[in-house]
Amino acid sequence: MAPVPLSPINVGHIDDVQELRKFKPTKIPERFVRNETERPSLSTANLSSACKTIPVVDLSKLVKGSKDEFQKEISKLAISCEEWGFFQVINHGIDLDLLESLEKVGKDFFMQPLEEKQKYQMAPGTVQGYGQAFVFSEDQKLDWCNMFALGVEPHFIRVPKLWPTKPSKFSVTVEEYSREIRKLCQKLLSFIAMSLGLDKDTFEEMFGVAVQAVRMNYYPPCPRPDLVLGLSPHSDGSALTVLQQGKGSSVGLQIRKDNTWVPVQPVPNGLVINIGDTIEVLTNGRYKSVEHRAVTDKEKDRLSIVTFYAPSYEIELGPIPQLVNENFPCKYKRYSHGEYSKHYVTNKLQGKKTLEFAKIQTQNSS
Ligand code: OGA
Ligand code: NI
Repeated sequence: MAPVPLSPINVGHIDDVQELRKFKPTKIPERFVRNETERPSLSTANLSSACKTIPVVDLSKLVKGSKDEFQKEISKLAISCEEWGFFQVINHGIDLDLLESLEKVGKDFFMQPLEEKQKYQMAPGTVQGYGQAFVFSEDQKLDWCNMFALGVEPHFIRVPKLWPTKPSKFSVTVEEYSREIRKLCQKLLSFIAMSLGLDKDTFEEMFGVAVQAVRMNYYPPCPRPDLVLGLSPHSDGSALTVLQQGKGSSVGLQIRKDNTWVPVQPVPNGLVINIGDTIEVLTNGRYKSVEHRAVTDKEKDRLSIVTFYAPSYEIELGPIPQLVNENFPCKYKRYSHGEYSKHYVTNKLQGKKTLEFAKIQTQNSS
């Protein structure tokens, strides 16, 4: 959630998808209809791809397991990060009532009348508040999604007027939740460092006061889920992302694996974790930020609550020296996280294209 461009941009008219839905349109407005190649073809969510499921990591075995349990789980974590860029974490230690409370205030927020939500309207080209982020032009296709996003830490990134007063418990719940998720990210990053053979504090020491933002994505049912996307394909600019899927929601998150889209089936009380671009760069590509997207459902709505955890903006990043050698030559340049964050939020979501920014151009690369 870095500073945003000052020049005015024309994003055209953006329909609010929850309002659209009220009219039960039989025809989807053109701006939401994807080109054929981008549509979520039915083959993506079928059985053959559903056989693949993202790994599940038991955090309790890393925190207090026996030596054997720890070893087994840490190898699983390494494989998850190397081969999937995604895993679900169970026994994460966060109070389930807190997860439920957040989901409740989140859902209640989106169920309010449009006028109430518009008090927190996201300005064009910015990423905090209510609306659609990452829209920069009139002809850009839109996602079938309403977002509400807030910068949380450090405090200077907060925009106080965007913190809702209704539902009354919204803001305190986000605060409490964010504190717990922050601790979880710190723990996960220490195990991720260990899984790479690095000192457990490597990332914590490097990150400074980490930047943390939360975004709630609400996907109303869509009469033509075959034509639209809930959220465009992208990788996250963060170091780590934590995603909570609403109980009873449709299955909507899909990740790109071996060129098919694999749906992420939620595990009860689990959280979905994914590696962001920053960890890909720091690990010199060993751990990957994997492209993902969200699709919609004809009958069911879906709420996802997503936390982005990243280094402080002034921190300079580049591949960690221990992970660069003859066999693994340096693939990414050095830059500050603020630069990357600005680049990320001023471009539309388009697969892993944003990470091109950080790549060292070699003679063989296009
Ligand atoms: C995101 C994201 C997926 C989802 O917000 O970055 O990938 O299922 N969300 O909402
Ligand atoms: Ni994402």
